[in-house]
Amino acid sequence: MVEPTESAAPADRIRTSGDTEVATYLEIAEAREPGQVLTPAPNAPDAVAVIDFGSQYSMLITRRIREAGVYSELIAWDAPAEALNHLQVKAFVLSGGPASVYEDGAPTLPPYVLGSGLPVLGICYGMQLLTHALGGRVEPSDSREYGQAVLNISDGSTALLADLPSSMPVWMSHGDRIIEMPTGFRSIAQSDNSPIAAMTDDAGHLAIQFHPEVVHTPQGSELIANFLFKIAGCEPTWTAQSFVEESIATIRAQVGDGQVICALSGGVDSAVAATLVHRAVGDQLTCIFVDNGLLRAEEPARVVSTFRENIAINLIHVDAVDRFLGDLAEVTNPETKRKRIGETFIRIFEEEARALGEVDFICQGTTYPDVIESAGAGGGAAKVIKSHHNVGGLPKDMKLSLVEPLRNLFKDEVRKVGEELGLPREMVQRQPFPGPGLAIRVMGDVTRDKLEVLRAADWVVMDEIKKAAKYYDLWQSFAVLTEGRTVGVQGDYRTYGHCIALRCVTAEDAMTADWARLPYDLLASISSRITNEVPEVNRVVYDITSKPPGTIEWE
Ligand code: XMP
Repeated sequence: MVEPTESAAPADRIRTSGDTEVATYLEIAEAREPGQVLTPAPNAPDAVAVIDFGSQYSMLITRRIREAGVYSELIAWDAPAEALNHLQVKAFVLSGGPASVYEDGAPTLPPYVLGSGLPVLGICYGMQLLTHALGGRVEPSDSREYGQAVLNISDGSTALLADLPSSMPVWMSHGDRIIEMPTGFRSIAQSDNSPIAAMTDDAGHLAIQFHPEVVHTPQGSELIANFLFKIAGCEPTWTAQSFVEESIATIRAQVGDGQVICALSGGVDSAVAATLVHRAVGDQLTCIFVDNGLLRAEEPARVVSTFRENIAINLIHVDAVDRFLGDLAEVTNPETKRKRIGETFIRIFEEEARALGEVDFICQGTTYPDVIESAGAGGGAAKVIKSHHNVGGLPKDMKLSLVEPLRNLFKDEVRKVGEELGLPREMVQRQPFPGPGLAIRVMGDVTRDKLEVLRAADWVVMDEIKKAAKYYDLWQSFAVLTEGRTVGVQGDYRTYGHCIALRCVTAEDAMTADWARLPYDLLASISSRITNEVPEVNRVVYDITSKPPGTIEWE
């Protein structure tokens, strides 16, 4: 058996967008622990706090609430009550979770929840906790209920279940169940395995055994809306427009007459963050766009024209192609590539920032999932990048304070804000692109020639995918330049050329992905165009690996 000489162990994989990567380099540079809340949330009048007990769906609950137009944040169950100080909480939702309420060390209900007297909706583990806390009894169920179930509503007069069909499919995932409700509660819906699939008292405590936040509960959003509007009395005021107005005021107050810098990656998050800051403080913002020579064809020019010409942002365009490619010479290990790129980026950013003179703030496109991941147990993407890049960081004397206007937004909300700000659709709706760019799509060492071949092939992929109107359906679609050569016949000659792998995936988030079932005709035209238009390539293969076990990127 051949031992691999270089490793890219699973733990080394970094699953963030290019923007997160840029943000992380800068965060490292700040020598600041990720996850600290430094900017106050926008002054949302109505907020619903989702208390997180560890369910894989917790973040989805927050998203669904926001989709209904109500601001919501996910709060760790063991966070101190002060973690809610910046919110005007109108109600609590208790998430599900993998624990059992009687287990040693199981997450407990924070006392402020019942102490507040506000409406509470417990979901799954949240239901069991509520039962336990209010004096009912919970015990492991004989048959674990997992998957689709039918909910029969026995009391449709309860506001939570108003206007829902008397019988509807729901998604269950629980082992424990309620065997004795707390005093004052009544069962309002049942399933085959749960005689108490939903219950309520008259004091604003409600609990459900199923997950309304997942798509497998088709009427889930209506149930959540009933809780928000009929029970908690929220108003649907959380919109992209209100966010933009409030953010501009917040940024102005924070920045005053200070100077702000922002690194643009070409991705959505930094673009939206910079545009928002520009709306707020205009020429006090200077953006730095570092061309590392690892971007897609025509990408650097597009970034420059979008920002410099269309939005009139002060933009410094740094052509650092030679420097990056020099630092990558003969590097083949994927993680070494990432590390070199990170280090070079931070050094260049530092030089440019210093050359500007007095700078007070640094704007970053950090988004809510990054914040949650970084704050979560065991650390998230940012910490992984941190340990693996081990970047030196900006010198302490630069003392830049952070402006992170998107810190509380999900990706789809960032996109809505981008649209609200008038950014071009192709910028706002673009597919993610990794920070290390094409360097991790050229297998083996990265050279100018290989990059040119990859860029030309990748251009065809993008062009065909867009023409077939598949671009927005796919999470990512791109070409990979594989290592080694293959034999072919082109014209009358046998050739020994490059092999391009086509990678097109669908995904909800990048944690899992599936290879896209593209029409054969589309695959055929991509293949024939690449081999015709890129003479160095004589073979195209389609990657039919899902994630897991494969990753989206090849390195
Ligand atoms: P994988 O290949 O791990 O990728 O399935 C998941 C998502 O993350 C992107 N990716 C990166 N983004 N720096 C980044 O900023 C990286 O080093 C990196 N590696 C992967 C990838 O494009 C996909 O969207």
